[in-house]
Amino acid sequence: METQIAVEFLDQKIPETGTIVLLVASKKKWGASLKKLDKQSGGQISKAMAVSSFEGEKNDSVEIVSPANLELSRLIILGLGDAGIEETSDWMKVGGRVSGLVKSDPTGTVTVLVEDIGKDLAFRAENIAAIATGFLMKRYDFNLYKTTGKSVDKKGQIKTLALACRDPKKVTKAYQSLDALRAGVFMARDLVNEPGNILGPVEFALRARELEKLGVNVTILDESEMAAKGMNALLAVGQGSERESRLAIMQWNGAENSKEKPLAIVGKGVTFDTGGISIKPPGGMEDMKGDMGGAACVTGLMRTLALRKAKANVIGVIGLTENMPDGKAQRPGDVVTSMSGQTIEVINTDAEGRLVLADALTFTIGTYNPRLVIDLATLTGAILVALGKEYAGLFSNNDRLANRLLKAGDKTGEKLWRMPLGKKYDKLIDSRIADMKNMGGRFAGASTAAQFLQRYVGNTPWAHLDIAGTGMASPKSDISSSWGSGFGVQLLNEFIAQNYE
Ligand code: BES
Ligand code: MN
Ligand code: ZN
Repeated sequence: METQIAVEFLDQKIPETGTIVLLVASKKKWGASLKKLDKQSGGQISKAMAVSSFEGEKNDSVEIVSPANLELSRLIILGLGDAGIEETSDWMKVGGRVSGLVKSDPTGTVTVLVEDIGKDLAFRAENIAAIATGFLMKRYDFNLYKTTGKSVDKKGQIKTLALACRDPKKVTKAYQSLDALRAGVFMARDLVNEPGNILGPVEFALRARELEKLGVNVTILDESEMAAKGMNALLAVGQGSERESRLAIMQWNGAENSKEKPLAIVGKGVTFDTGGISIKPPGGMEDMKGDMGGAACVTGLMRTLALRKAKANVIGVIGLTENMPDGKAQRPGDVVTSMSGQTIEVINTDAEGRLVLADALTFTIGTYNPRLVIDLATLTGAILVALGKEYAGLFSNNDRLANRLLKAGDKTGEKLWRMPLGKKYDKLIDSRIADMKNMGGRFAGASTAAQFLQRYVGNTPWAHLDIAGTGMASPKSDISSSWGSGFGVQLLNEFIAQNYE
């Protein structure tokens, strides 16, 4: 859902109508705008601040509805505190909080003023741009299928977000790349939020196809093309579905040297996971429309990279399929030969994501010889048990890659926690009749799943992000109220920008 809100950057001045949100830092240093407004209102504002003991502490706010002698609908004063707002992601959170404070306005316009308290930080172009981005991120609302109710009620809807700043040109420039990030996050959210009947593998592939408009090279393999390549593991997952499987490849060649080895990002795209013949219990099964969170992240990321014309060569590959029980579905005990030639005994048809990724990884590494590969997947319930919704699980065969990802996670707030791999875990997936089985028993389920994937990456530097806890059914945060938060787009965009451009 694209944003309907226009963003404007203005020279520092106080508007006469609409809602003003004034950002202030600390009580001793009220700046010129606040003093002026207070004087105009006959001291009503300082009275309101005194009554609510407002001292500019971080996240504290006061709201004055139709302040005296002014045409404003509302004046909201939001405290920034004195420290700790350093990263772009922190400024995005400020924007998110502004959004939370402004439900509606009769004029449809909200203006954010940063009070001049002699601290340059709040005036840095990137930070002002991040406030705008955070505002829009928090306001994202997936209401495609709502015909009544608040989220479709147009009354008082915010149509314009204005930000007063010192150098609008500079802020506009900084905003462009953040807005590309926002657009990628929105795409990922849309994909995760769509229900399984609307977004199957074929429909998802068409959404990826739309990136061609932005200069991304998109190739889509259908089932016969995948069969010809021997992708039997991926195809086995989809064989119980009426819908066809797809593999979509998105290439962005932005590096100065177009021959430079690409970075590869691979995503699990199970558009609905019933579990197959090893069917899941009904409670909460509807959430399994989000079992394509990895693929959604990859697609959103490619959109961001193309929109901001990233100077890197990146390949996104997504394995798209639907896991259904049916007369044609695979059964527990089946043995399939993956594209790599390795054979898999399917113990549990609900451990389907690793089958999809096995072939997607083999294809990606074999075809593009990438300098590294990162996969994202809503892979295991076990990672939720271990880390909840706070961190995604990070597994890697390469410390440098792992550390770079951890750092990008800290910076963006899309946090990762490194989890163990090892020979003993690997042994747990040896099979009696095939090269491996697709599950390793009750314990260390996230690690045995990662171990399975590692058997398909050889020596390529590789990281696996298990986003089962973070990629779907997300709790509300400072910058998201969406069920699908778009996890991973910010993280990987930062990872690429910091290390490969
Ligand atoms: N898509 C699920 C994992 C999942 C669980 C994602 C909860 C999001 C929330 C995956 O395909 C799955 O079913 N994994 C099984 C593996 C098991 C059978 C070895 C699991 O985690 O229970
Ligand atoms: Mn499953
Ligand atoms: Zn799944």
